[in-house]
Amino acid sequence: MMLILFSSLVACFGLMKGCNAAVVSSPEVVYSWPILEFDWRSENQKQEYIADSRYIPENNPFTGIKVYKGKTYINVPRWRLGVPSTLNVVVEKNGKPLLQPYPSWEMQRVNGDCNSFKFIQSMEIDPNTGLMWIIDTGRINIFPAPTGSQAPQNLCPPKLVIYDLNRNTTALKYEFPASVVNPNTTFLNDLVLDYVDGEARFAYITDTFDFKIVVYDRKLNMSYFIQDLPSMSPEGPTAGDITVGNISLSVGVLGINGIAMSPDFKYVYYGPVAGVGLHQIPTSVLRNYEGSSAMSFPQIRKVGDKFTQSDGMLATQAGRIYFPALSTNSLWLWDMEKDRLDQGVSEGDVIMQTQEEVVRNDATMQWIDTLGIDENGCIWFTAPAVQRWMTGNMDLTGASGDNFYIWKVCVNELGYLQNADVTTKNSTNGGNSPVGVMSIFFTLLHMLKQVLRVSNVF
Ligand SMILES: *[C@@H]1O[C@H](CO)[C@@H](O)[C@H](O)[C@H]1NC(C)=O
Ligand SMILES: *[C@@H]1O[C@H](CO)[C@@H](O)[C@H](O)[C@H]1NC(C)=O
Ligand SMILES: *[C@@H]1O[C@H](CO)[C@@H](O)[C@H](O)[C@H]1NC(C)=O
Ligand SMILES: *[C@@H]1O[C@H](CO)[C@@H](O)[C@H](O)[C@H]1NC(C)=O
Ligand SMILES: *[C@@H]1O[C@H](CO)[C@@H](O)[C@H](O)[C@H]1NC(C)=O
Repeated sequence: MMLILFSSLVACFGLMKGCNAAVVSSPEVVYSWPILEFDWRSENQKQEYIADSRYIPENNPFTGIKVYKGKTYINVPRWRLGVPSTLNVVVEKNGKPLLQPYPSWEMQRVNGDCNSFKFIQSMEIDPNTGLMWIIDTGRINIFPAPTGSQAPQNLCPPKLVIYDLNRNTTALKYEFPASVVNPNTTFLNDLVLDYVDGEARFAYITDTFDFKIVVYDRKLNMSYFIQDLPSMSPEGPTAGDITVGNISLSVGVLGINGIAMSPDFKYVYYGPVAGVGLHQIPTSVLRNYEGSSAMSFPQIRKVGDKFTQSDGMLATQAGRIYFPALSTNSLWLWDMEKDRLDQGVSEGDVIMQTQEEVVRNDATMQWIDTLGIDENGCIWFTAPAVQRWMTGNMDLTGASGDNFYIWKVCVNELGYLQNADVTTKNSTNGGNSPVGVMSIFFTLLHMLKQVLRVSNVF
C-alpha cells in the first residue's frame, strides 16, 4: 500500500505545474486513429461492404466506451449510413488497434433482423457481474450526411439487451413498448444502473430527442418513463452553440444526455447537451412507477450551472462527478463531496460550487464524449472531435495526424458500481468488507493529496 501511495506522489510531483487535485499519474493516450479501422474477416469482406455502402469509412466516429477485465468496448453510433459495426471490442493485430465487432459480425446486421443491433450510442458494464447493459435506439441515420439519404430509418423497436461478457450469452432482450419509447423519434443516449438489495435492478436511460429518462425495472421486467421538460429539454435554441477552436457546431435540438449515479444510489444527476444546468433527481422518484406519470416533479432540483456544455458524465465513490468541458477540450470535475462538507448539508441540498479542471489538451481531447472507469481507479474516455467530424472539417487521410483518441487518466477513485453488490446488501454491511478497506485507503490518499496541493503553493 505504501508503495502505491509513494508512486502516486512521485507522479504528482513529476507533473509539477500540471499536478492536479485528481490526477495521480500521467494521462495516457491508449489508442488513436486518423480514421477508425475495423477487424475485417478478409480484404474481400471489406471491399464487398464498401461496394454496397454497408461501409462508408468517413461516416464512422466513436462515442461510448467501457472497460472490463482489460478489454475496451467501443460504440460506433449509426448516426449516418455506412457503419458496419456499432458495438466493438478493441483488438491489436500486427501492432495496430482494430475495432472487432462484438459479439459477432452477425449481431451487427442493419437489415432484416431485429435481434441484431441497430444503433448503440453507449452501454454500461456492471463490474460485479460482467453483465453489459446495451441500449439500442432501433433507428439509424438520425444525423444524415449533407449528401445522400436525408431521412432517418426507423428499423426496429428500441431495445435493451443484457449480454454476459463472461459466458458469451444474451441474458435478456427487452423491447420497449411504443408507449414508453417512441420508435419514430427516440435517441437512447446513455445510462446508469441502480442497485437495490445487492442487485442491479433498474436502468435509467436518457432519451436525448424525446427529453425523458426511461426506466427499466429488471425485477418486474417492465419499463416506464419520467419526463420533466424544464430540466430535460434544451435550455434554448442557442444553448447548443458550441465553439471549439475555430469551429462552431449547433446542437440546439439535443436534450438530456449525460447521466451519473451517486455512489450511495440515492441521487441521479443529468443535464441536456444544449445547456449547462446540472439537475438532481432522487432515485426514490425514479424507482416509483406509480408516480412516474406526474405532470411535474418538485423533487427535481437544479444544483448549478457547469461553466460550459458537456456530454457523458461519471460519478465516483469519492463523491466527485466528472464531466467533459466541450468548449475547452478538457475533462472537469465537480467535487460534490467537498462542497457538501463545506456547506454542511446533505447531498439533497448541496449546491455546485467547486468546478476544477482535471486534464486538458487542445489537440487531442476534442469533444470528450463518454467516460468509463476501470477497477484500478482509471477513467477512460473517447475524444472523437465531434465538432470537426459533424461539420466536414476532419482530415481523415492521416496527413494532419490522428482524429479519434482514447485516453486513460488515473484518479484512484472507485466507480459508482464497484462492489455495489456488497454495499447495497443491508444485511452484510460490515466494517471489514473489502469496500470498507478500499474506501479508507482512498480517503487517506485523497487527504494526502490535499496536503500536497497546499505544499505545492510554496
Ligand atoms: C467467450 O468468448 C471469448 C472470446 O472469444 C473466449 O475467449 C472465451 O473463452 C469465451 N467464454 C466462454 C465461457 O465461452
Ligand atoms: C411510428 O410510425 C409508424 C409509421 O408511420 C406508425 O404506424 C406508428 O403509429 C408510429 N408510432 C408512434 C408511436 O408514433
Ligand atoms: C420481459 O418482457 C418482455 C416484453 O414484455 C418479454 O418479451 C420477455 O420474455 C420478458 N422476459 C422475462 C425474463 O420475463
Ligand atoms: C483559427 O483561425 C485563425 C485564422 O485563420 C488561425 O490563425 C488559428 O490558428 C485558428 N485556430 C485554430 C485553433 O484552429
Ligand atoms: C433490505 O431492506 C429492505 C427494506 O427495508 C427489505 O425489504 C429487504 O428485505 C432487506 N434485504 C435484506 C437482504 O435484508
